Amino acid sequence: MQLLSVPNLRRFGKPLVFAASLVPVAWLVFNWWQAFAGQSHDLGFNPNETSNRFSGDWALRFLLISLALTPLSKILKSPKPILFRRMLGLFAYFYVWVHLLSYLWLDLLWDWPGLWADILKRVYITVGMSAFVLLTPLAITSTKGMVKRLGAKRWQRLHKLVYVIAPLAVIHFIMMRKGFQIEPLVYGAIYLALMAFRLKRGGRRASNVS
Ligand code: HEM
Repeated sequence: MQLLSVPNLRRFGKPLVFAASLVPVAWLVFNWWQAFAGQSHDLGFNPNETSNRFSGDWALRFLLISLALTPLSKILKSPKPILFRRMLGLFAYFYVWVHLLSYLWLDLLWDWPGLWADILKRVYITVGMSAFVLLTPLAITSTKGMVKRLGAKRWQRLHKLVYVIAPLAVIHFIMMRKGFQIEPLVYGAIYLALMAFRLKRGGRRASNVS
């Protein structure tokens, strides 16, 4: 039997990818545990900032990885990458929650009115929060039951929101870093490359029809 067959990927590949996706949060929990226990840790001299940034980075990485799976499946002419799309999209949402809770807990000490004030005052927080809010209906409707309830067409239309969410997350990153910094621009370039691929494919399909 082929090693990377669809049944094997479902049986072994998915649990493996699931476990690998938990590594960043496990790293964070382990290092906070060490920090609270007064042991040596890798959170640096500003653990709050490390936590906020680390979780934000992973949220954006998972978002872009899940966006890359459809182009990858087209390039490979195989549906296999799609097997991981829902899981990795949900991990993006999970890491956004870790990011939001890290900020609320460590920076704001659960000061909810303070969060509201930040949303109104700091534009990069407004943009980040918009991305989070828009991502929520996608996570809620990610189950097979919801695809059925909404109907494939409406579901697909709703899930196109991800093409708005990803650039919002990149803009949030660029604004937060201030000035010229290469890292957020690399994420932006990856997003643009994925969009270019999508548009090129769409264009080719349209010209095949005509
Ligand atoms: C889809 C949603 C979001 C994504 C993908 C995202 C991603 C990111 C990324 C990549 C960074 C920069 C990390 C770095 O410098 O290496 C960041 C920073 C930050 N984000 Fe978000 N973010 C999102 C939503 C939010 C929300 C909802 C909030 C809070 C309400 C928030 C608050 C922050 C803060 C405060 C920082 C600066 C961290 C620091 O310097 O301590 N983000 N975010």
